[in-house]
Amino acid sequence: MNTKICRPRFFTLVLFLPVLLALVISAGGARAESFRLIFICDIHLMPELNGAGGFRAAIARINELDPDLVITGGDLIYDALEADYKRSSSLYDLYIALRDEIDAPVYDVIGNHEVFGLYPSSGIDPGHAEYGKKMFIDRIGEGSTYRSFDFRGWHFILLDTIGFTSDRKYFGLVGRGQLEWIARDLEKTGQDTPIAVAGHIPLVSAYGQTKKGAASAASPNEVVVNSHEVLALFEEYDLKLVLQGHLHIVEQIAIKGTHFVTGGAVSGAWWKGPFEGFPEGFVVVDFDGARFSYYYESYGWKAED
Ligand SMILES: [Fe+2]
Repeated sequence: MNTKICRPRFFTLVLFLPVLLALVISAGGARAESFRLIFICDIHLMPELNGAGGFRAAIARINELDPDLVITGGDLIYDALEADYKRSSSLYDLYIALRDEIDAPVYDVIGNHEVFGLYPSSGIDPGHAEYGKKMFIDRIGEGSTYRSFDFRGWHFILLDTIGFTSDRKYFGLVGRGQLEWIARDLEKTGQDTPIAVAGHIPLVSAYGQTKKGAASAASPNEVVVNSHEVLALFEEYDLKLVLQGHLHIVEQIAIKGTHFVTGGAVSGAWWKGPFEGFPEGFVVVDFDGARFSYYYESYGWKAED
């Protein structure tokens, strides 16, 4: 009697054992796969200059390119730094509505222009419920201005690169609390996992040198002033790619196997045409295991006359 009942259970177990093993191996191993990421930065979404039409055209091209995920690189809107609440709030609403037209999952990075009311000329009191980064945190950032996630064998870290001065201006900074969070996040990630970082203000850029000479110091508004502290945290880890925005230029620098890519601008020169010869566009990154290649895709936008 018992044998009759047990036998089917035993055979069922034998039959499904290979399936169970495969499930355990695939869940436990950080197996990298091929996938496509699109990095879009400096959208500067605004109703003027047909900025919304431009973002829609970029989205149409993004959807055609069929990425597996999209990361935005900050300066999503223009502008919350200096605008009143009504304008800032409506730009956030417009951005969220248009972003939802992107077929792939989207992960947002904060830029300086998402900071609500920082400039005193905005007339916003620092006591406002959505002052500063709170507007981004509540509406877009899912409770934070920095976070990380795993995707098909890679670890992605989205940075907040915006610091505030005491007189309510912004500069490039990764703050102390965030540095400590990065260290803890990397410990959990481990040394064998390939890592990609995305942030708005560049960690590394040489573009200023091409314009002002190699001896010129970069402005604290243009680069992260403590990038050395950020990069030191990654020394024992496999940081392969840093995607950055802010400068509206296309630039690639490789140091010790880490590629720093400045990703142009979806808006070009704030929807007034290409910026210093760099057309409106975004970066397409194709991953194949731990390897990757990338290119800048101009989506053919023509600014209004
Ligand atoms: Fe920008």
